Amino acid sequence: MKIAIASDHAGFELKSYIKEYLLKKKLSVEDFGTDSEESVDYPDFAKKLCESILKNNFKRGILICGTGVGMSITANRFKGIRAALCQDLYTAEFSRLHNDSNVLCLPGRIVGKGLAEKIVDVWLKTEFEGGRHKRRIDKIEEVAKEVK
Ligand code: RB5
Repeated sequence: MKIAIASDHAGFELKSYIKEYLLKKKLSVEDFGTDSEESVDYPDFAKKLCESILKNNFKRGILICGTGVGMSITANRFKGIRAALCQDLYTAEFSRLHNDSNVLCLPGRIVGKGLAEKIVDVWLKTEFEGGRHKRRIDKIEEVAKEVK
């Protein structure tokens, strides 16, 4: 699986760490920036990554900012992106089982590297359950069309 990854300055350190972790596991990773701890705006990086997923270049992406909140808010504006902000293993697992999340948002200023590795592992290996959860996911898009 090819994985897209991006962060802002607050997520840069954790992004660099997770990228290396994935490469060591022989996974293919594309890094959409940022490339340093110099201050940048997280929506720019969320946009690049989400657009690439929606063009089918990648099935899954990882976005990291300070809290993960800005990245998740931005990513969830893109139709077809289901971004899950995860700080624990249970949320990571169920965001895949029940929500078919295709973007994982991590908080670089909150979660340590060891926990982040485990979150990424469980998120990557867990398959979507489908069934009634597919119906609910389809409804997200229906509801979005009705929202003014
Ligand atoms: C940057 O200071 C910080 O606001 C950003 O990384 C993120 O946490 C926003 O949600």
